[in-house]
Order: sequence, then C-alpha cells, then structure tokens
Amino acid sequence: MSVQMKKVALISGGNRGLGFETARQLGSLGYTVLLGARNKEKGEEAAAKLQDQEIDAHCIELDVTEQATIDAAARKITTEYGKLDVLINNAGIGVIHKFTDLSVADLKRSFDTNFFGAFAVSQAMLPLIENSDAPRIVNISSSIGSITLHSDPASGVYPFKALAYSCSKTALNQLTTHLAFTLKHTPAKVNSVCPGFVATDFNNGYGDLTPEQGSRIIVHYATLAQEGPTGGYFNEQGVIPW
Ligand SMILES: NC(=O)c1ccc[n+]([C@@H]2O[C@H](COP(=O)([O-])OP(=O)(O)OC[C@H]3O[C@@H](n4cnc5c(N)ncnc54)[C@H](OP(=O)(O)O)[C@@H]3O)[C@@H](O)[C@H]2O)c1
Repeated sequence: MSVQMKKVALISGGNRGLGFETARQLGSLGYTVLLGARNKEKGEEAAAKLQDQEIDAHCIELDVTEQATIDAAARKITTEYGKLDVLINNAGIGVIHKFTDLSVADLKRSFDTNFFGAFAVSQAMLPLIENSDAPRIVNISSSIGSITLHSDPASGVYPFKALAYSCSKTALNQLTTHLAFTLKHTPAKVNSVCPGFVATDFNNGYGDLTPEQGSRIIVHYATLAQEGPTGGYFNEQGVIPW
C-alpha cells in the first residue's frame, strides 16, 4: 500500500445537495474528492460533472446503512490512497412527523441513516483517518439537534419539534464528542456543523441559503488549522449550545 501525497476527502451522500457542493469546494482547493453514493450511476454522473471542472473527483459506492458497502469502500480507499484526510458524514434523511403521528419504525429509519450510518462509516474509516497527518471529520448536524435550544421557548428552534430528525442529530453530536475524545492524543479534529437552512431537495428547495453558502462552513471545518477546535458544535454564527 502506498500513501498518496495529495489530500483525500470522502463525502457521504456526495452525489447531490450539500455533499456535492462540499465536494466541489474541496476539489477546487486541490483535494482528491471521493463522492460516496448509494446509487453508483448517480455518483458517477456527479463525479463526471466535477471532472469537467478539472476536479479530481471519483465516485465510490457507499450506502451508509449497508455495512458491506462501507467495508468495500474502506478497502478500496486503503488500496488506492492509503489514507483519508477528510471525512464528511453528510448523508442524511429528513423524517419529519409530528409526535402524535410518529412510529418507532420512523425513529429507527431516521437513526439508521443519520446516526448508525455515520457511526459505521467513521469506525470503518478510522485506520485510514489515522494514516493522515492532519485528519478532519465533519459531522453534518443541525441546530435542530440542540436540546438546549429545544428547551428554550425564546429560541427559533423551539417550535420545530420533529423528534425523529432532531434526536438522530442529537445522537450524531454525541458521536462527535466521543470520537473527538477517542482521537484526542492525535492531530485529528472532529466537529459537528450546522450548515443553516439550505435550499436542497431535502426541503424541496425552500431553504434561505444556496448550497454554495451552506457548504462554506463545512469546508471551513474540513480544512481547520491545527490550533482549531475539536469536539464542538458550530454554525456560521459560532458555537451552538448542545
Ligand atoms: N438542507 C438543509 O437545510 C440542512 C440543514 C441542516 C442540516 N442538513 C443536513 O445536511 C445533510 C445533507 O442534506 P442536503 O440538504 O444536501 O440533503 P439532500 O439534498 O436530500 O441530499 C441527501 C444526500 O444524502 C444521501 N443519502 C441518503 N441516505 C443515504 C444512505 N443510506 N447512504 C448514502 N447516502 C445517502 C442522498 O443520496 P440519494 O441521492 O441516493 O438519495 C443524497 O446524496 C443531511 O445530513 C442533512 O440532515 C441539511
């Protein structure tokens, strides 16, 4: 196994939305970007669009709810690059039901992708991440995952009570703190980031921000300087209370 000199980034759900735009921005900075996609055809199409912009982009099959694809992706990255400098746990789904309509199956579906998926990918990629001299892991969370904001009637988040989505992001935030702890004696930085309300398929294009604007903070934490924070929860305005 040889280790590539150029920085390598894996973005789950990289074929569209914030994941695709994050890949474009990191690619423009000179990173090799691996677009994790559960649908290989869509992933290849997305990678081709970036290659047309002179970006070193490649599709890698990755369904974050299918351990076999995660393990295969880790083996492929090991063989082809030998390390991972950036991991963006971006793949996510919005299970948005009011409390009285919510089922246990809805909760499990939300956690399968938004939490168990991010955990499984992070764990499988850990040996590759440890081969980087400055690894950065960004978990794409949401201010909707903040228990503090959900319990403050003065907060804008307070009325947005979608339990399945919210608590999957709260759990993702704990992945951030626990993985940061696990890697605390290494140069790695692990942070949760809320991109803001971004117009993507996720909200049928209703967000206030463009994917380009929303991805800037993701790229910022993916390219943090060594003195930057780890184990935190941030949006454009700064620290989000847990
Ligand atoms: N948009 C916002 O306002 C907003 C705000 C806060 C946080 N976020 C978070 O940002 C992340 C990206 O959201 P987005 O707005 O870009 O959403 P999006 O446009 O709906 O894109 C979601 C991406 O996740 C992928 N995905 C879903 N399930 C997957 C799985 N099991 N395995 C692999 N990939 C999977 C989708 O792949 P397919 O194309 O195959 O479906 C797609 O590439 C999510 O985690 C979301 O919770 C978004």
